[in-house]
Amino acid sequence: MTQGPLTTEAGAPVADNQNSETAGVGGPVLLQDQLLLEKLAHFNRERIPERVVHARGAGAYGTFTVTADVTPYTRAAFLSAVGKETEVFLRFSTVAGNLGAADAVRDPRGFALKFYTEEGNYDLVGNNTPVFFIRDAIKFPDFIHTQKRDPYTGSTEPDNVWDFWSLSPESTHQVTWLFGDRGIPASYRHMDGFGSHTYQWNNADGEVFWVKYHFKTDQGIKNLTAEEADVLAGKDPDSHQRDLREAIERGEFPSWTVGVQIMPAADAATYRFNPFDLTKVWPHADYPVVEIGRLELNRNPRNVFAEVEQSIFSPAHFVPGIGPSPDKMLQGRLFAYGDAHRYRVGINADHLPVNRPQATEARTHSRDGLLYDGRHGGEKNYEPNSFGGPYQTGRALWQPFDAVAGGTGTHPTPRHAEDDDFVQAGNLYRLMREDEKERLVANLSGALADVSRDDIVERAVENFRRADDDFGKRLEAAVQALRG
Ligand code: HEM
Repeated sequence: MTQGPLTTEAGAPVADNQNSETAGVGGPVLLQDQLLLEKLAHFNRERIPERVVHARGAGAYGTFTVTADVTPYTRAAFLSAVGKETEVFLRFSTVAGNLGAADAVRDPRGFALKFYTEEGNYDLVGNNTPVFFIRDAIKFPDFIHTQKRDPYTGSTEPDNVWDFWSLSPESTHQVTWLFGDRGIPASYRHMDGFGSHTYQWNNADGEVFWVKYHFKTDQGIKNLTAEEADVLAGKDPDSHQRDLREAIERGEFPSWTVGVQIMPAADAATYRFNPFDLTKVWPHADYPVVEIGRLELNRNPRNVFAEVEQSIFSPAHFVPGIGPSPDKMLQGRLFAYGDAHRYRVGINADHLPVNRPQATEARTHSRDGLLYDGRHGGEKNYEPNSFGGPYQTGRALWQPFDAVAGGTGTHPTPRHAEDDDFVQAGNLYRLMREDEKERLVANLSGALADVSRDDIVERAVENFRRADDDFGKRLEAAVQALRG
């Protein structure tokens, strides 16, 4: 803003911003006080709907640098040469809390990354966990209802949370992860990020690879115990947000080493786990993480509302050489985000500086709508046209999926040789050191102690027992000790 007198929204100078205009001294306020009316009316419209999930978050800009040649696997231009840099914006978040909720809570963290590439914006909307609670998008609204406030009590209800989890055994892996040490990161800087889903990469020859993204924190993993988090959440609800902003202000730019697991397309059908099941990881022994880049955050947003609150990320924002997989969760997400953006920020949300392409321009025939910025001037708004308008390329961003078998139907996600709902949860438990197991069991039993119904608790414990017998027995004993 330039120096000068305060003005109205229309730019007229303001004489008095302390006293409203009245009919005489001590008299009622006049309708002609346009400044007062404008201020009150604008204030009433300051909020937009908060995100239905991941409402609470913080963001920063930065740079992604390619460190390895991945051209045998993808033709994405921003990944085309070692040393190539791309500007990014990353928004971190918690999932269940509302906009004003505390940061230091047990909850997955969002890790939503926008690459401003020369072929359009590529969004990778991931979490700090490699897996998720469910494997079909049709269960997502029900799942989130159990994480949010109960319609009758208006509070989050442990009964709802554990009722859903215990009846959805595919959540056992993610719940084991969430109640372990990494369930409460000390800050956004001290946690890893994951694309979580399997995505398609395709190279210049049209060959297909399935990939999973990993972002390993260079700051080292740091977590909070349940007790530390309880204290911090009360003392400094904005702890994660403040930590990120202040680190960047100090010039301590957080960074992540970026890697991918790469599966040749032909492996997918016969791999021991269904590679498109979001409740499963690909063990690194099968597909090692190959380092491909470095991500650094180095610039704070200047205005949190404009750049963080109004930022939009969509798993459907792909660029040439990258696409979706048949993962049913991902397929649902391809619809959900754009739809949320149109409702939450509006049909022209992609015109805002944080959301629009920075290294290319959007050339569409879409026009008008609320807050249209007039970017197309008088250009023709249809295709085909003979006036030199934008044209289709004839090449899809991603390769077709292999032939699909069978008829339409509400088919469960296909199971591969070693798929069940418990094997990877058990593997995770068995990987833990003794002290980690103790904290996991203490965290889970503490949470289950708040559940009112025995049948829900018993069903939950049974899922962990099916993951690992020792896990189940210890949890049962700990729960009994607390519940009597
Ligand atoms: C935010 C839907 C699963 C990560 C959101 C939003 C919706 C949504 C509607 C709010 C978007 C907005 O208002 O801008 C869904 C559905 C899912 C799903 C329907 C399952 C089918 C997941 C999974 C992940 C994830 C599996 C991570 C792997 C995120 C993140 C955000 C988000 C990080 C916040 C993005 C931001 O910072 O703006 N989700 N989600 N979601 N979701 Fe999901």
